[in-house]
Amino acid sequence: MTTLNDEVQTRRTFAIISHPDAGKTTLTEKLLLFGGAIRDAGTVKARKTGKYATSDWMEIEKQRGISVTSSVMQFDYDDFRVNILDTPGHQDFSEDTYRTLMAVDSAVMIVDSAKGIEDQTIKLFKVCRMRGIPIFTFINKMDRQGKMPLELLAELEEVLGIETYPMNWPIGMGKEFVGVYDRFNNRIEQFKSDEKDRYLPLNDEGELAVDHELKDSPLYEQTLEEIMLLSEAGNQFSEENILAGTLSPVFFGSALTTFGVQTFLDAYLQFAPAPQSRNTTVGEIQPINEDFSGFIFKIQANMNPKHRDRIAFLRICSGKFERGMSVFLSRTGKPINLSSSTQFLADDRNTVNEAVSGDIIGLYDTGNYQIGDTITTSKEMYQFDRLPQFTPELFMRVTAKNVMKQKHFHKGINQLVQEGAIQLFKTIRMEEYLLGAVGQLQFEVFEHRMRNEYNVDVIMERMGSKITRWVEDEKIDENLHSTRSILVKDRYDKYAFLFENDFALRWFQDKNPDVKLYNPMDMS
Ligand code: G4P
Repeated sequence: MTTLNDEVQTRRTFAIISHPDAGKTTLTEKLLLFGGAIRDAGTVKARKTGKYATSDWMEIEKQRGISVTSSVMQFDYDDFRVNILDTPGHQDFSEDTYRTLMAVDSAVMIVDSAKGIEDQTIKLFKVCRMRGIPIFTFINKMDRQGKMPLELLAELEEVLGIETYPMNWPIGMGKEFVGVYDRFNNRIEQFKSDEKDRYLPLNDEGELAVDHELKDSPLYEQTLEEIMLLSEAGNQFSEENILAGTLSPVFFGSALTTFGVQTFLDAYLQFAPAPQSRNTTVGEIQPINEDFSGFIFKIQANMNPKHRDRIAFLRICSGKFERGMSVFLSRTGKPINLSSSTQFLADDRNTVNEAVSGDIIGLYDTGNYQIGDTITTSKEMYQFDRLPQFTPELFMRVTAKNVMKQKHFHKGINQLVQEGAIQLFKTIRMEEYLLGAVGQLQFEVFEHRMRNEYNVDVIMERMGSKITRWVEDEKIDENLHSTRSILVKDRYDKYAFLFENDFALRWFQDKNPDVKLYNPMDMS
């Protein structure tokens, strides 16, 4: 009989971090193909919303109506059950994207070999570092001319501040891409070859153990030199450091041609952690704890005005979910029945019957849940650690168009802020409402939902990007407010400054060394 522990040990739950166009859709699709979750290449691609104007919000949501279920993809492979959580890029980027990283146990970072590390990737990566979760790197598009592999490694280490261990090493690239020298499996995997001589074994000296034309190639010579360099001057392989999130195993491959994907998947499954214990108000909760528990990390609003219901995404942290079970919402102590309210997000057709720690389930929500809520069958009604506050970068001043609608306006804002859709700040003097977000789309969702759900038209006045720094002390001299360093209070009444730019921040710090400022995303 399989025990709860057996089941939990098979779970691997990760998010893919990447810059748009690095190959996330392609890699996801290939992984799903291995798992037999989809039959044809193109299935995931067809769902991808593609490029669109941000004003086409309704259109986006129409498409999302289908893709809600693809926010979490699940497949079985080699005795493992793998959950991939989607983290949208470009205009879709929002606090939800960061929160999704709170729900995974590891992350896969895809880097385009020609572009290296890009901006969005750095931000997401920082959140992973904050949580200390393992990061696996897949350097993609080796079939194209890109940056030199050593240069890419140096960039990863420098820009992201993490150690790397190349599990394999490319032999040539672009038109001259021969394959990879697989340090982990002690073999060379050839790029263009039929199955039978795809793998060439290496001897104890790390050289080809069989006669092969590759031996005469200068690319082979160069690879051996680089491998030697890596062995002497590179980092040591350390499973412990991978698990601590300080060493990233790096794989070179080409998602489009499915090259290196399976080797990557095998190694990932071997070294990525199964669900771990999580901290709560009553101490650590083990994933194999019999009580069912989980927390809500994302709430997806239904943009159809006729249907106000939403879907709350729950990461299971302990026990086993069973249909019809009764749970408590820890924040209110209210019992909730999870009968028909549950949908299995990985599968369009079925509702979930059973899920364990590591799995994600979607709960139909008629307004019960908030971001960060804990639900559990335990009578103790503990709560998981509060989700961190993410530093907003974009700001809008917001007012109600019609002054007669103030009541609705406040109600709407408060609910949407509680739900985690957007952050709210008030200026000190004028008590103006400022909205903060990490992605432009959050403002559009806010505006749309205020109109459709609360019947309020809002005026949004663009303030552009700001650097937000919270103030450590409870008190502050309010005269420090200026147009270049706007003093505000957040929704918990904590002081923060919104600085015009880097220069304004440095200037302020020089002038006011006693004011201790912090960025929650810099804290580990
Ligand atoms: P994303 O989800 O990260 O945004 O990227 P996506 O997988 O959609 O890939 C972006 C583009 O890069 C696609 O080309 C895709 O075919 C290509 N690509 C992905 N992996 C590889 C690879 O290993 N090698 C090469 N050469 N290309 C790769 P596109 O032209 O934008 O789309 P399509 O016309 O091919 O569908």
